[in-house]
Amino acid sequence: MGESSRTGFVAGLEDVVAAETYLSGVDGEAGELTMAGFPVEELAGRASFEETVYLLWHDVLPDPDQLADFREELSGRRELSRATLDLLRTVAVEKVPVMDALRMAAGTVRPGTDEGEALALVASLPTIVAAYSRMLEGEEPVDPDPELGHAANYLYMLTDDVPGAEFTRALETYLNAVSDHGMNASTFVARVIVSTRSDFVSAVVGAIGALKGPLHGGAPGPALDVVFEIGDVSRAEAHLREKLGRGERLMGFGHRIYRVRDPRADVLAAAADRLYTTDGDRELYDLALGVEQTALRLLAEHKPGRNLQTNVEFYTALLLHGLGLPTQLFTPTFAAGRVAGWTAHCAEQRALDRLIRPQSVYVGSKDRIWVPLEER
Ligand code: ACO
Repeated sequence: MGESSRTGFVAGLEDVVAAETYLSGVDGEAGELTMAGFPVEELAGRASFEETVYLLWHDVLPDPDQLADFREELSGRRELSRATLDLLRTVAVEKVPVMDALRMAAGTVRPGTDEGEALALVASLPTIVAAYSRMLEGEEPVDPDPELGHAANYLYMLTDDVPGAEFTRALETYLNAVSDHGMNASTFVARVIVSTRSDFVSAVVGAIGALKGPLHGGAPGPALDVVFEIGDVSRAEAHLREKLGRGERLMGFGHRIYRVRDPRADVLAAAADRLYTTDGDRELYDLALGVEQTALRLLAEHKPGRNLQTNVEFYTALLLHGLGLPTQLFTPTFAAGRVAGWTAHCAEQRALDRLIRPQSVYVGSKDRIWVPLEER
């Protein structure tokens, strides 16, 4: 879908620049992602999630005192209000999908200053996801542990077990890698909402709704399901050909901006490789690599010249599965990472203070004559 020659409309706003940002930049031709000046490969595997959030919010890495204060500010806001817990318990009875429950519960974050809302949103999204996921299993939520870092505490609240350093590092690498990514759909939604001088909570609620769709953050669950359905690499080609033949898209492949391999896929592949070497189902990991190779070969055949490559979601699925997360928590965990970028973009948009209000071109008919109901 390209530009309409009649009106100049570009479907999907492809290549339309909608903001200048200091937060992150995506070079789709070179396969580069820069986050506040750092290549994603430099940052994701080293920073704690708190350091990444601080960096995105302040454009500088915190010194040890600043980091200690920031950790405390966040950990002090992890607990959910009674109203939020009651809401989650109510929707758990109906088995509402986790992303829908997250969207509803994020909306209960109390209004405050922009900074207060941003802190509360980053701090509480993992608590919402962990508490709700346990409720769905008929278990009681685990209270957050203020002594644990953000990522370790998330895993702790999910499992009631303090995770080892390896697991914490792997999750932290994931959260950092997905914390921001230029003008993606959910970030655009957040910026549009804040541009009306609305609040950060509303912006993040809207962003969660946008992230949920399978063309954005909803892909990793289905991507892993395909690996499970295939079961053995010898069946990969027939299975994937059948999907493409039915006109389906292969989840975890292709990207609007990247024309080469998504650099986040490499960062997550390295983290997943480490995780599955020390702990986890190596057979599944090897099967997934086989499926990836087959998918890339078939996509090259299916859409020659389009250069459909592995995107972040394929290795997200493997990494999060290796951490013991069920597929229904993949997209909510993405939200727990991306909320860092959403809130940073909200602040950037707030400072710009310019209403985002594009144009549309009316292409419908004109001068119609009203026909009374009894004559239709
Ligand atoms: N499998 C099969 N065909 C594909 C795929 C895919 N994964 N991706 C693109 N194509 C095809 C399209 O059907 C289209 O064919 P057509 O020209 O015959 O209509 C052609 O390649 C070009 O695709 P576009 O839709 O123009 O690509 P776009 O840049 O709009 O879409 C997107 C990017 C949505 C990510 C797409 O590649 C896709 O649907 N991928 C699968 C879902 C997925 O992995 N989503 C996660 C993205 S990463 C993220 O958001 C964090």
